Amino acid sequence: MNTPQTHPPASLQHLKSEGDINLSPHRAAWARDNLDAGTHHWLAEDAEFFLHQALSTPCLDVLRKSEGIYLEDLQGRRYLDFHGNSVHQVGYGHPRVVEAIINQMRELPFCPRRFTNLPAIGLAKKLAQLAPGDLQKVLFSPGGTTAIGMALKLARIVTGRYKTISMWDSFHGASLDAISLGGEAIFRRGIGPLLPGCEHVPPPDARHCLWGCAGKCSLKCADYIDYVLEKEGDVAAVVAETVRCTPFIPPPEYWKKVRAACDRHGALLILDEIPIGLGRTGKMFACEHYDIVPDLLVIGKGLGGGIFPLAALIARKDLDVAASTALGHYTHEKNPVAAAAALATIECLESEGLLENARRLGEHALGRMRTMMEHHPCIGDVRGLGLLLGMEIVTDRRTFARAADTAEKILYRALASGLSFKLTMGNIITLTPPLTITLAEMDRALDILEDCIGGVEHGPELRVRLGEIGSPRTEIPGPGKPNGEPNGELASLADHFSAGRV
Ligand SMILES: Cc1ncc(COP(=O)(O)O)c(C=O)c1O
Repeated sequence: MNTPQTHPPASLQHLKSEGDINLSPHRAAWARDNLDAGTHHWLAEDAEFFLHQALSTPCLDVLRKSEGIYLEDLQGRRYLDFHGNSVHQVGYGHPRVVEAIINQMRELPFCPRRFTNLPAIGLAKKLAQLAPGDLQKVLFSPGGTTAIGMALKLARIVTGRYKTISMWDSFHGASLDAISLGGEAIFRRGIGPLLPGCEHVPPPDARHCLWGCAGKCSLKCADYIDYVLEKEGDVAAVVAETVRCTPFIPPPEYWKKVRAACDRHGALLILDEIPIGLGRTGKMFACEHYDIVPDLLVIGKGLGGGIFPLAALIARKDLDVAASTALGHYTHEKNPVAAAAALATIECLESEGLLENARRLGEHALGRMRTMMEHHPCIGDVRGLGLLLGMEIVTDRRTFARAADTAEKILYRALASGLSFKLTMGNIITLTPPLTITLAEMDRALDILEDCIGGVEHGPELRVRLGEIGSPRTEIPGPGKPNGEPNGELASLADHFSAGRV
């Protein structure tokens, strides 16, 4: 038998991607100061019985309830949930979704393969009606990762090719095929070999751009996709998130260029809208902002109403060519309860004007975030589309170097004040509240956020570092440039890792 080994990372740096780091000293300090003995007990039990992994176990806190836009922990602390893993478009426990689920559970709780059922048919039909262009054929699966896998299989069958182009820093799920597409070290490093033929290109992240775009995309990254498609000559598909959940928001012409390049070179365009589809950006599907139609569109997350795991692959009608291959074959492929939850969710999105609310409150929030930027030098950039909002925390606006330590301090202050959000790439405060949020709730959350930013900025170390702020300029941080952040992150890392608790 092989000797089991633990793998404490040499640095936390490569963990700074998809979410906040569960091994960080800031996390440990927060737990010490904010959690009572009861909660510590349950966290220790969690750490005892769950396999430890980056981004989850050991965990932050123990929840007992969620409702609307709130989470509540064992100590009765309530968090405004601006994270929600992007499943909570309609809030937690929306009464119409819960009712649809209960009714369906009483009638037909499961549907074995070879049968179908009315909620599943109704949902497939509804998605085909909602989806743009000729995206009219649907397959369901129990999660986004598996739906991405089905899209990859279909692309291979349709094109007779296997290569893909996807983006560095992207995420498409945690299975081996999905991490082969994804571009984050936290998932890929030390775990290969991955799928062959997965080429990666720089994403349309104008703030950290290889071509030095300094915030205004020159579209060279789109031209580069065309270039790689041409050089490879036999790529099956370009796979990308329409708007990266970080977020970075490509300019309007970006997707038109990529669409045209795919057509020119016989590659399919697969858009992953798992966290951002179903209204988050203010339109039902993010690709509608760009006036293009992919060949395959993947959605998930909030499709199950924040209760059921459910995802869907929506394909061009004429790509229904794999009748003799099992593309999905997932046990819960046509789960009637999940389908009923999804139908009720879509009904809420439509009848409660949630897309309009996402647009309106997204603009309001972005306006306030721009004003915050005028007053807080550690904010290097703010951006958003609907209720997908991001605020980039930097050490210096001239270099745009990522201020991950500062961002973490802001996060833990915010958690202590009742606001939960996600950090991506270490330094980007990513705000994804439910689309049901009210103006007053949004303002409260932004007040908390601004307060925490101010509090961290006026801490002694930061006051010195941020004392002299210049106007933004075009330089991007190069490898090895010091970012001016303290490097105390490893101080107690080994302790956390071996003790297995926060
Ligand atoms: C862009 C993107 N694609 C795919 C996935 C994977 O979805 P799931 O976790 O449901 O498998 C996620 C999940 O976070 C995601 O954000």
